[in-house]
Amino acid sequence: MAVGDFGAYNIEDLRQIAKKRVPRGVFGYVDGGSEDGIAVKNNRDAYTSLKIKNRVLVDVSGRSTETTIFGRKATMPYGVSPTGTAGLMWYGGEAGVAIAATKMGVPCTVALNAQTSMEEIWEAAGEGGNLWFQVYMWPDKDLSLKQIDRIKSVGYETLIITVDGPVGSNREYNKKNGFSMPLKYSATLFAQLLAKPGWLIRVLGQHYLRRGAPTMVNYPDELISRITDPMLKHMHTKTDNLTWEHVQRIRDAWPGNLLIKGLQSAEDAVIAKERGLEGVVLSNHGGRYVDSAPAPLQVVAETRKAVGNNFTVIIDSGARRGSDLVKAIACGADLIMSGRPTLWGAAVAGTDGSYQALEIFQTEMDRVMAQLGLNNVDEIGPHIFWNPPNWVPQAPPMLKAVAE
Ligand SMILES: Cc1cc2nc3c(=O)[nH]c(=O)nc-3n(C[C@H](O)[C@H](O)[C@H](O)COP(=O)(O)O)c2cc1C
Repeated sequence: MAVGDFGAYNIEDLRQIAKKRVPRGVFGYVDGGSEDGIAVKNNRDAYTSLKIKNRVLVDVSGRSTETTIFGRKATMPYGVSPTGTAGLMWYGGEAGVAIAATKMGVPCTVALNAQTSMEEIWEAAGEGGNLWFQVYMWPDKDLSLKQIDRIKSVGYETLIITVDGPVGSNREYNKKNGFSMPLKYSATLFAQLLAKPGWLIRVLGQHYLRRGAPTMVNYPDELISRITDPMLKHMHTKTDNLTWEHVQRIRDAWPGNLLIKGLQSAEDAVIAKERGLEGVVLSNHGGRYVDSAPAPLQVVAETRKAVGNNFTVIIDSGARRGSDLVKAIACGADLIMSGRPTLWGAAVAGTDGSYQALEIFQTEMDRVMAQLGLNNVDEIGPHIFWNPPNWVPQAPPMLKAVAE
């Protein structure tokens, strides 16, 4: 497979093709942010505002995009964020994304909200897989701990707790499209589904035929519900009393790598480090919660400075080009994740489409490293920037005055 198969030469191409293939409400659910979409736009603007300088006549014939994360090699400093939505893009899409990530050699985070079981996805990825698992917490300590036992017994070693949703997000377009959770089969929604008969047969039809109604199969038995179940709403909105103490309980029960996801400040990252976590995922949830949130890219340098080097700092939200991975590494990130690109890929061509998204990131990163005269990820640093803003780490002066 090569970049350009399926007619997609970049991530935006995948997005445009996906838009034509899935119902409007489903596409909007994946694509949109909260309220006015300010954070979604700013996530991209932060990346595109940074200018990087090429360096000429450097031997880059032995270059590599490879890195190491939690002791395991990755083909590039990229991982898949949890979304639990790939099954709405392609039947079996969640396993498909995991298979694609395994083939590319990058970590992939399985979401608690996936409609495929954590066991099945683990098996699909196979031996070489580097699967992480993401949970939300419940105030009921026993439920959370029971959940942890199941995840541990499957074999997952890295756990991410998403903590940015004390209350539900304000996404008005979902309501207008009739695509709120719990899902109600309204006339508006039916009209959209019928407008995409291919998707209806390929994705939803297959699901109902083979597995029945989409279900939250990774929830504890007490909470398992269909996505049409009114209980769902209750479960998602009763998390406004969670604190660091709840994280601590999980820390005490989870022997593997533990990270929290959804913070946007150096202050919270410092607390996470003090609490004995292995790292954080700076994220504004792809612009889906606080609409005026900074882009994680804009806070990664100050976070790195606050937590030091022996603590993993991952960022997501807005990366769409291989050059974005290079920019984020130069700002202090260890790994960059995103969720939407592999979802759009899944909508285009299932596992192969998700792999295509990863291939785009890797080939673009390789190309831009060559253009910048960089041979490996360790060589990436703030010196690559031209005229950087103050939220980017400043490089030591590299040039000696010619006149000296
Ligand atoms: C459709 C969709 C579903 C998501 N579901 C989850 C989820 O279940 N758990 C979670 O921690 N984050 C979830 N996220 C947020 C992603 O993990 C990630 O933070 C976001 O996609 C980053 O933005 P980007 O994909 O635009 O780079 C979801 C995002 C999208 C777009």
